[in-house]
Amino acid sequence: MEFMGAHLAFRSRWHKTDEELCRHSMSFILHKAIRTDFFESYLYLLERQPLVKLYALTSEVVDGEMQFYARARTFYRDVPATEEGMMGDFMELSDTDIESSREFLRKFVGAPGKAGTHFALDCGSGIGRVSKHVLLPVFSNIELVDMTEPFLEEAQNYLLEEGDRVETLYCYSLQDFVPAIRKYDVIWMQWVSGYLTDRDLLEFLLRCKNGLKDNGVIILKDNVARQGCILDPTDSSVIRDILILRNIIERCGMTILAEERQQGFPELCIPIWMIAMQ
Ligand SMILES: C[S@@+](CC[C@H](N)C(=O)[O-])C[C@H]1O[C@@H](n2cnc3c(N)ncnc32)[C@H](O)[C@@H]1O
Repeated sequence: MEFMGAHLAFRSRWHKTDEELCRHSMSFILHKAIRTDFFESYLYLLERQPLVKLYALTSEVVDGEMQFYARARTFYRDVPATEEGMMGDFMELSDTDIESSREFLRKFVGAPGKAGTHFALDCGSGIGRVSKHVLLPVFSNIELVDMTEPFLEEAQNYLLEEGDRVETLYCYSLQDFVPAIRKYDVIWMQWVSGYLTDRDLLEFLLRCKNGLKDNGVIILKDNVARQGCILDPTDSSVIRDILILRNIIERCGMTILAEERQQGFPELCIPIWMIAMQ
């Protein structure tokens, strides 16, 4: 509470400064930048809230996040619309990945009190590798969302005759995508959460939560750092540790139902985890 008092005191002081400074002056811009940094550090100290700091990118200060997203978009422009492209040169691990995903999914669907098997959404679907091997065998209908149009175009060939059970292909960035309310039994997000900043991931998970039917489940599968948060400049993504992921999920007001580490991948690979939440 004492902290809160200080927080509010600073807030009101800065509010006054906002009113008095010329909005286009250099000092106003500088003042805003310092204020944002101050509050982030302050919240970190106050709540021990691990924030992903995109400093390498925000050193360009203006539109740091836009650069982060633009670079990922540029990266995927050159990725082939194939299973190899989706697996990033680890094609030999696809079958193991799929088998574990199927087993994990089975725990949460198709029984009384569990998620139904009518509708699933595949987020960051790429060409639909997860849709084809994990979701379509279980759900009557699915939808795919991905930011890369050629991947979604290829999905229509790749999913073959099962394609008529794909209701819609959404070409959207997840940070802009709003899933329909209470439509989905399962929302699957694989190897895509690292392309979102903390704030956008949190807000996207909140929108997904609203997209779930009763007993619906969100499953996030991704690389997980051993500690902290690693920025991968090649594809402009971040790899978060499990504490950061849990923190984001808890902040959405969701409960983690289960967490499981992917087995059968070489020890040298970065650990991969599946997290089910609702
Ligand atoms: C490594 S691939 C994984 C594809 C698929 N989930 C799988 O496991 O086969 C990452 C996918 O995320 C998509 N992606 C990256 N950033 C995204 C964003 N901000 N919004 C939507 N899709 C994104 C890419 O276009 C790509 O299809």
